Amino acid sequence: MTPESVTTKAHPPLAAISLDRNSPRALSEQIALHIERAIISGALPAGTRLPSWRDLATQLGVARGTVRAAYDSLIDRHLLCAAGAAGTRVAERLPTALPACLDSQLHGSSDGTAARATGGYGPLALFQYKSDRPLAFQMGIPAQDAFPATLWARLHRQGVQVSALQAGAMDPRGLPELRAALASHLALARGLTCTPDQILITTGFRSGLAMVLRAIDCAGKQVWVEDPGFPVTRMALESAGVHPVPVAVDHEGIDVAQGRVMAPAAASALVTPGQQAPMGVSLSPARRKALIDWARESHSWIIEDDYLAELHLEGRALPALASGDGADRVIHIGTFSKTLAPMIGLGFIVAPRGLVKRLTEMAWWLATPPNNAVQIALTRFMRDGHYFRHLRRTRQIYTERRSLLCDTLQRCNVPVALGAGLSVILPQPSGFDDARLALQAREALLAVSPLSAWFAKGSRARSGIILGVANIRSERVEADCHHLLTLMRSTS
Ligand SMILES: Cc1ncc(COP(=O)(O)O)c(C=O)c1O
Repeated sequence: MTPESVTTKAHPPLAAISLDRNSPRALSEQIALHIERAIISGALPAGTRLPSWRDLATQLGVARGTVRAAYDSLIDRHLLCAAGAAGTRVAERLPTALPACLDSQLHGSSDGTAARATGGYGPLALFQYKSDRPLAFQMGIPAQDAFPATLWARLHRQGVQVSALQAGAMDPRGLPELRAALASHLALARGLTCTPDQILITTGFRSGLAMVLRAIDCAGKQVWVEDPGFPVTRMALESAGVHPVPVAVDHEGIDVAQGRVMAPAAASALVTPGQQAPMGVSLSPARRKALIDWARESHSWIIEDDYLAELHLEGRALPALASGDGADRVIHIGTFSKTLAPMIGLGFIVAPRGLVKRLTEMAWWLATPPNNAVQIALTRFMRDGHYFRHLRRTRQIYTERRSLLCDTLQRCNVPVALGAGLSVILPQPSGFDDARLALQAREALLAVSPLSAWFAKGSRARSGIILGVANIRSERVEADCHHLLTLMRSTS
């Protein structure tokens, strides 16, 4: 029997609850799951009043007690609250982590493996914070206090004034003057020689990746990904119908020999050669060559995620992979999320010549470039030397914050703290539940990331705690470290 759809007049998000009476899952659980989904998706916002048990039960053709059991289970999990005569409402403050059952549904792990591997909460939940301010140790957000907001506001206002007189996006690749400024910057900062017509402006790494996956026709094919590696990338590939093949990372970066054994004819390899995410190692010269050799032999593409660009805290950043011999096989994706701020929503692709036409078509039909005002602001920011200055300044801030954190941890007798990009990793013995620790720490507003969540499902995940350094406050770091260490002791 197919699930029966029952229409309720109760509330639009409850208007099509599907109940499968043949499912081993109880009807009350199915109702609870539907409501939970609607809450998490925002379709039922905080404070929304739900229909009474009686009304919803009548609409769904179930017993009143069934709806009551569904409501009670959500009340127990603090997703709903009973407000007496005011009825049952969606809680004003939702729990910080996605509920486990919804999360395993979202990640399609019917056996719950992903949920188990991350302490029952699934990988995505570990990267979601219910705070619009960066929390202590949060990864992925540049130093908020270093963002030149006044200058940016002025440039952006000018951008709005100029673009208000323009017809709109004339070139799907973005403004020619921004692409020209970027080409000059990349030549100096990343050793990458390209012409402006090879550059496409995007809204960040993810939108660039989506276009590239389409352009090289990856759906249904294998793509090497780093293990450990950025979980968002793995999920992006899966949702684009690509089969990610996790390839181990060691002290030299991705293990190309292992990739050749596991998926010799993969369509692509998606790598972070500049500073591997999250381990921080740069791809060694030998591995660079091995990767390029493989791409040439197998006619595969290398997708270079250059998320940290020249933000290298030790010595000089290595040139981009797309800068050297074999650049014709490398698609370089850059973003300003880490070097400036995620909120400006800008990134870019540098396409090898052979892919420019195809990517430009993708941009025409599927991805409008970011608005002209923000592109004009960035053009002026780069052209007038502010970007170089900002990078120099933030590199210095991050170096100081990382040393401060390492010194503080050392004083607290933490044996090993490995610097990795804009983070510090505290390796933990196997068996240490780093995902549980991360969730507990989050309750104390300490946004550490568990290393195990960066490993692919089914691989031998290592345990560890990753601390982002970008938003550390010197006046708080000692107290935050003590708090974290107390939590770690109670978890081990
Ligand atoms: C490995 C990696 N790639 C890319 C990004 C940036 O993604 P986006 O530009 O879509 O914000 C991040 C941000 O945290 C990252 O860690």
